[in-house]
Amino acid sequence: MSGAVIAIDGPAGSGKSTVARAVANALGWTFLDTGAMYRAVTVEALARGIELSDEEAVARLADSLVITNSPRVCVDGRDVQDDLRTERVNLAVSTVAANPAVRRVMVERQREFAQNQAVGTVVEGRDITTVVFPHATLKVYLTASLEQRAMRRGEEGAHSLSRRDVADTTREASPLRRAPDAHVIDTTSRPVDEVVQEIIECLKNLNSI
Ligand code: CDP
Repeated sequence: MSGAVIAIDGPAGSGKSTVARAVANALGWTFLDTGAMYRAVTVEALARGIELSDEEAVARLADSLVITNSPRVCVDGRDVQDDLRTERVNLAVSTVAANPAVRRVMVERQREFAQNQAVGTVVEGRDITTVVFPHATLKVYLTASLEQRAMRRGEEGAHSLSRRDVADTTREASPLRRAPDAHVIDTTSRPVDEVVQEIIECLKNLNSI
């Protein structure tokens, strides 16, 4: 299945990471959390005191960083996993992710990553079905009610979550959108296993055509 991609998009708290990881485990495929890449760049930009509105400086930084993710997210060999989901990063990440030059660097790396796997890859993010892998083997869009998404996120809170929703769906560079050919799953009140099974069924149906 080398080169095969299951692309999963959706807003914060829709279950993307949990579901994508579980699908990858069930299939024996690799998992890529692209949000963690934007978060890692944000952690580093904040640590270095780089002005986030200075698009060139942030893009130069993104280009220079070596980001690895197995088993924990590291930047230039330094473990930043525990810094990825702080409130400071939640507040800043959508600005970094709206930077078109940063996106160019990240998208290229994401495509390269999937190409280099001996097995298929499950990739999740905001622009995976629309920009990064528009010809993915299977495209999925996960959604859920704001109330349930905020509950799943606990500490981040509904206010910060909706702020990120607005920033991510209204930005000019690769906004979050449902690809017209994506399989849409509303995960509100649905157990993870059931959603995972639905995605695996979709994949099987594709393969049996
Ligand atoms: O898991 P959660 O939805 O909280 O966020 P994430 O997947 O870790 O992504 C964090 C932020 O990175 C999002 O709010 C987007 O601004 C950005 N992002 C993006 O623009 N494109 C992606 N492919 C993935 C994340």
